Amino acid sequence: MVVDRAENKAAAPRRNVLTIRELGHERLVRILRAANGYLDTPPEGDELRGRSVGLLFFEDSTRTRVSFTAAAQRLGAHVLDLASGGSSMSKGETIADTARTVAAIGVDAMVVRSRQAGGPGVAAAAVSSPVISAGDGRHAHPTQGMIDVLAFARFVGRADAFDLAGLRVAIVGDVLNSRVARSAVEAFSLLGASVVVVGPPAFAPPKLAALGCDVSNDLDAELASCDSLMMLRVQVERHGGAGAPPGYRRGYALTSDRLAKLRPSTVVMHPGPMNRGVEIDGEAADGARSLITEQVRCGVATRMATLVDVINGASEGGAP
Ligand code: CP
Repeated sequence: MVVDRAENKAAAPRRNVLTIRELGHERLVRILRAANGYLDTPPEGDELRGRSVGLLFFEDSTRTRVSFTAAAQRLGAHVLDLASGGSSMSKGETIADTARTVAAIGVDAMVVRSRQAGGPGVAAAAVSSPVISAGDGRHAHPTQGMIDVLAFARFVGRADAFDLAGLRVAIVGDVLNSRVARSAVEAFSLLGASVVVVGPPAFAPPKLAALGCDVSNDLDAELASCDSLMMLRVQVERHGGAGAPPGYRRGYALTSDRLAKLRPSTVVMHPGPMNRGVEIDGEAADGARSLITEQVRCGVATRMATLVDVINGASEGGAP
């Protein structure tokens, strides 16, 4: 297969969704408004009829994979679903070669998840179809960041303008190793919220302030001042299989005691997958102030809006 790399490189960045920062405020709000609309009025089902979406998941997933599949199908698109375990990726084929192969078969967009940092960008540089990151090593998980701001904005009644000024979000746990945290910090900050990342020094070192957020190693000091408390899983697969550091639960888990110290209006969030009894207890995950199921519901709508933006926006030649 012949690939015109120069042409593809020039075309690829146009409608990609690789990070929230690259997306920018205007496009972020446009996608969020469309997603919010889908939650209130489901799509007709022919918005992407005749189009195909390739799913290239080089790493396991439940929510992202299933919701992208549901999103594409509910818009009338076909899904070409490649999993690393059932494809030639397991024989050592590179991300770029796999992306080129899927492009040659023919797709209108690719959704790429990789354990390897930069994987979705590598795919984007190799093909001319737009690429949506579905998780990029420790770096970024932009649609998850969109989901998190959408669920929160709807709850606080700010889903018209998506202006979150005056609200404070605490993101708690293994922030250093979390792509979700990076994208959530970018998304909440871009919409005007103040963000604090919280964890033990190994998970929330001072250098994370470079993301444009506050950094705290004292969860109990943050409980009374946040409007949303988003808990994160310890990313054991990203630090050599070592689990949570000693004393982690005592210092950083959302227990029933800590739940009782939150303001009545504060919501509990978690992007999943959750480890109950480690970073979050059942009372918090399943309680009345939990937005966790709502985050999953927002996932399908957000991914529908992202696919439409990427595919129809590209065909209409719309500005990114
Ligand atoms: N939040 C998230 O990315 O979940 P999955 O790993 O199940 O896709």
